[in-house]
Amino acid sequence: MEMKKKIQEKFKTLYNCEGTFFASAGRINLIGEHTDYNGGYVFPGAIDKGILAEIAVNGTDKIHAYSLDYDEYVEFGLNEEDKPEQSWARYVFGVCRETVKRGGKVEGFDTVFAGDVPLGAGLSSSAALESTFAFALNYLFRNKTDKFELAKIGQATEHNYCGVNCGIMDQFASVFGKKGSLIRLDCKTLEYKYFPFDPKGYRLVLLDSCVKHELASSAYNKRRKSCENVADAIRKNHPEVEFLSDAKRVWLEEVREEVPQEDFLRAEYVIGEVQRVLDVCDALERGDYETVGEMMYQTHFGLSRLYEVSCEELDFLNNVARRCDVTGSRVMGGGFGGCTLNLVKDELYDHFIETAIKEFTGQFGHAPKVYEVHISDGARVLND
Ligand code: GLA
Repeated sequence: MEMKKKIQEKFKTLYNCEGTFFASAGRINLIGEHTDYNGGYVFPGAIDKGILAEIAVNGTDKIHAYSLDYDEYVEFGLNEEDKPEQSWARYVFGVCRETVKRGGKVEGFDTVFAGDVPLGAGLSSSAALESTFAFALNYLFRNKTDKFELAKIGQATEHNYCGVNCGIMDQFASVFGKKGSLIRLDCKTLEYKYFPFDPKGYRLVLLDSCVKHELASSAYNKRRKSCENVADAIRKNHPEVEFLSDAKRVWLEEVREEVPQEDFLRAEYVIGEVQRVLDVCDALERGDYETVGEMMYQTHFGLSRLYEVSCEELDFLNNVARRCDVTGSRVMGGGFGGCTLNLVKDELYDHFIETAIKEFTGQFGHAPKVYEVHISDGARVLND
């Protein structure tokens, strides 16, 4: 049964009324990984996999929430001490709390929601959930919060209720996403630009290693700390450096002996990656997909060897892509498992997918999952 129908039926059974439908999306990121919290550029887009929620204000001070995917119902209040146990409910709770903290109105509501963003695959199912509710609360309670603030509500939810000290990219993409366009965001100034993305003759496909790294959030927070350490060291010589992305490669060289080798390598990756985003945007405007692809491979190398957020399975998939003449391939998102993003010529697609499935299964005993994605709209209300 179609997701919307299932939600509607459950909603009617639980609450005996009808609500309004809201949706938001997961994201891909063509290039610019681990640059957001370093004040650099990212280049994401929302995808045609997301969260769909039916919501109705209920006239109480309680949230009644049902997750179809977890088949679980939770009730909670709006005060800090009402924090629910279930991790999915914490996202909803966090969004309510962060809206209230910013002076927004939030009262009780009933909701049923479901999603089709694969969990733990690096496609930001959590940002999709956060931005669906941030957008919906703003709409239902007429808070007039601007779109950046909605993204920040999602980000603050991760920081304060989910233990991930993430950047702004995922929530930004999920709120600002537009069908057929990628968005380059300068995470320092928050200036952004839509780039139509219609790679004729190519397809974008994700291969999911199905690896989920248990320590992903602590390892992520540790990477962020390393970058901040290096930025602090460089700032002593160059006070204009607010974020690591402001530093020149030669300035990094000046602190080589001062910072741990590991931190140095992390910073080397970030400084290279910020430039790669600009190079990819230029290449896209020329329709030069070969350069786009080559930059993706460079990013993979950096994420694997310098930033160390890849894993054996993802390196394997990246290697298969190279051998199958795939134009570009790299680990995508936070890393530590999840997917590779691949830019593949139409005529090579079938051979690549077959080879990847066969060789990966031979090596690891299970097949990678395959998701072909299209760039789609972000947070929205559905009126039909
Ligand atoms: C996760 C975070 C983002 C970003 C990416 C890496 O998805 O939520 O803020 O840092 O990792 O680019």
